[in-house]
Amino acid sequence: MQNKIATAKETLFEREVRQGLTAYPKHLSSKYFYDAVGDKLFQDIMALPEYYLTNCEHNILEAHKNEIAKHFAADGSPFSLFELGAGDGKKTKVLLEHFIDQKLNFDYRPIDISQNALDQLESSIKQELPKVEVSPLQGTYFDTLKNIGQEHQKRKIILFLGSNIGNLLHDQAIDFLKKLREVMQEGDLVFMGFDQKKDPQTILDAYNDPTKITAAFNKNILTRINTEMDANFNLDNFKHWEVYDPETGTAKSYLVSVKKQEVRIEQLELTVRFDAWESIHTEISQKYDDKVVEWLAEESGLSIETQFTDPKNYYKNYLFKK
Ligand code: AVI
Repeated sequence: MQNKIATAKETLFEREVRQGLTAYPKHLSSKYFYDAVGDKLFQDIMALPEYYLTNCEHNILEAHKNEIAKHFAADGSPFSLFELGAGDGKKTKVLLEHFIDQKLNFDYRPIDISQNALDQLESSIKQELPKVEVSPLQGTYFDTLKNIGQEHQKRKIILFLGSNIGNLLHDQAIDFLKKLREVMQEGDLVFMGFDQKKDPQTILDAYNDPTKITAAFNKNILTRINTEMDANFNLDNFKHWEVYDPETGTAKSYLVSVKKQEVRIEQLELTVRFDAWESIHTEISQKYDDKVVEWLAEESGLSIETQFTDPKNYYKNYLFKK
């Protein structure tokens, strides 16, 4: 059967699936892991004992909230706390509660692509921390960054937690940091989580849990293509595979075809052929050290004001200024 040429009407998701599955080697973007099912699977991942990132960052915020508050409060002038990809805000609530206790003058502006996540976050904050002034913003990071850039009444502190930066290649991370820098004024700060290089086994275990939740998360991209593009991927014919390169600090996720097979994606009028053991690269989860973070900051015109870590140095939160 002939494969249709891309049409202008294709969504970005469709276009990227077509490009990624007709390329060699094949690839798909991890940004498409996240629909309602993917969000839930990621919540489950964050609760896994092997996925140390969430606990480490939570512990850092808890242990250093006093010092963090001092940096954020600076001269005592009011600030807006923007959070990119706020999700359920669980870790952020540690800071919000402390800032209220310390009577800091701030408001909280969570940003997320999911209106549903924002609605839940807003109502939970109103219930648990009624003194926090919260106004959510729905949209992608880049759309909302434009809005943030137009706000000059208060100092801006931008949170980007969870080592989400690690899902970007270094060039993309620099572009992203440069965009953050563009919306910052003198006195504004960025507070960002970076998972650190460590024993490679610890990293592999975090992305290879025995309960196979991470495998289901990785395969959710195929489920989405099945339901949203009328495709016939058989999930059992693909194997979740994780590698970690201790030299570059890059963890990579793949879906490996366990046999020679053909998959039809009706919506794209596309037949995709897989050789036995051919891979689809789906995600990078970059691990960092101080040198690399300093280099990223320098390349994007930012400087590191300070950093916070956990007792094992598994994870760090860096505070950047312009
Ligand atoms: C969202 N992001 C930082 C997670 C990570 O660690 O790269 C996504 C994830 N992928 C597999 N497990 C968790």
